[in-house]
Amino acid sequence: MENTAKSESLFRRADSLFPGGVNSPVRYFDPHPLFIAGASGQRVRDVDGNTYTDYVLGYGPMILGYGDPDVLARVQEGLREGWFPGAPNAEEVSLGEMIRESSPWVEKMRFVNSGTEATMHAIRLARAYTGRKVIVKMEGGFHGAHDYSLIRSGSGSLTFGTPSTPGVPEEVSATVAVASYNDIASVEAIFDRLGSEIAAVITEPVFGNVGLIPPEPGFLEYLRKVTSEHGSLLIFDEVITGYRVEFSAYQNVIGIRPDLTTMGKIIGGGAPIGLFGGRKEVMERVTPSGPVYQSGTFSANRISMLFGLATMEKLANSDYGTLNRLVKDMAVAIREEIEGSGKVATVNQVGPMFQIFFGKESVKNYRDAMSADRGTYMRFFRHMLVKGIYVPPSQFETCFVSFAHTIEDTEKFVQGFREFIRE
Ligand SMILES: Cc1ncc(COP(=O)(O)O)c(C=O)c1O
Repeated sequence: MENTAKSESLFRRADSLFPGGVNSPVRYFDPHPLFIAGASGQRVRDVDGNTYTDYVLGYGPMILGYGDPDVLARVQEGLREGWFPGAPNAEEVSLGEMIRESSPWVEKMRFVNSGTEATMHAIRLARAYTGRKVIVKMEGGFHGAHDYSLIRSGSGSLTFGTPSTPGVPEEVSATVAVASYNDIASVEAIFDRLGSEIAAVITEPVFGNVGLIPPEPGFLEYLRKVTSEHGSLLIFDEVITGYRVEFSAYQNVIGIRPDLTTMGKIIGGGAPIGLFGGRKEVMERVTPSGPVYQSGTFSANRISMLFGLATMEKLANSDYGTLNRLVKDMAVAIREEIEGSGKVATVNQVGPMFQIFFGKESVKNYRDAMSADRGTYMRFFRHMLVKGIYVPPSQFETCFVSFAHTIEDTEKFVQGFREFIRE
């Protein structure tokens, strides 16, 4: 890091206002986070004037990069008409149609304001639809910060050592059974024991909140099969994966149809958004067409819809193949550096997402991720920051690459990694 005196001073003020000085725990790192003053393309600039090539992308939404001129123009133009939460608008219909056309298993949907809201409502709906209580989630799977999901969870809850948080009543935790991602036997054992009580299985199709872990062949297929056999719903939490790897939900990339899907991040282009949707007959149980209550002053607010629509229209014409190849080549180069160094480390990559784990030959599940060398990851984070490269300040997040990144950027990343691993 260069001079960060202004960030430090802002942090001192923030620390007296916000718990830990931040408004979301993943943003904190020692001795203080960087306060960002501006962002353009693939770079962010802190309040002290240092610039960084960014692989955090706002924890996922900014797949076009920052300040895309087409998005900006469209939103500015739209805002001239005003912004009026609490009433239907034409943009929500256009964005909804665009999502259903490109992700046809989302037959009906509702927009909300965050991924947290989306999964909370999807879980409640699954319970109401099936008349059952039990939810199966994966250890280390993160679905937002509500009571139903903060049970052996990932992301910031893992970074800060509170995967199951105080404040969640035991009665709620008792309705959540925890399986292991990529471990069919662990899911089978739960269904053998509780089959007829299970309302839904919720998982990210690609695990993205303990670092990045791709699905093993057959795992997601098994989840589809076992839920169908037991009359339970399958919920894919696509808050990270939706529109990440191609212009569609990840379910269409792999050809597995969940009953319900949640999305967020990319579909709002950097403005607050969430969505839950799926089979029409299930979604029609939501108020006012059905009895399952859901509401929100800011749901489908015009600002988020304008950002989402402008971003999605641009993404529909973006070349995901080239982006995915760029990141695949980068992962190959990182792997070569690891081999050349004689050190033990591994990199997982899916489309424009990747994460590096030190001290592990491979990371295929939560336990593998937990036993990676987190101390070395944090040294890597600091090393890269000094080089002007910003990766997430936690082993349990995922690095994202945007359409604004260039081959020069990824080469610089590999060079920074080379210097670190050879140290
Ligand atoms: C898979 C997944 N689900 C849900 C959420 C919660 O989304 P939000 O932070 O918008 O509430 C996240 C956040 O990172 C996530 O990664």
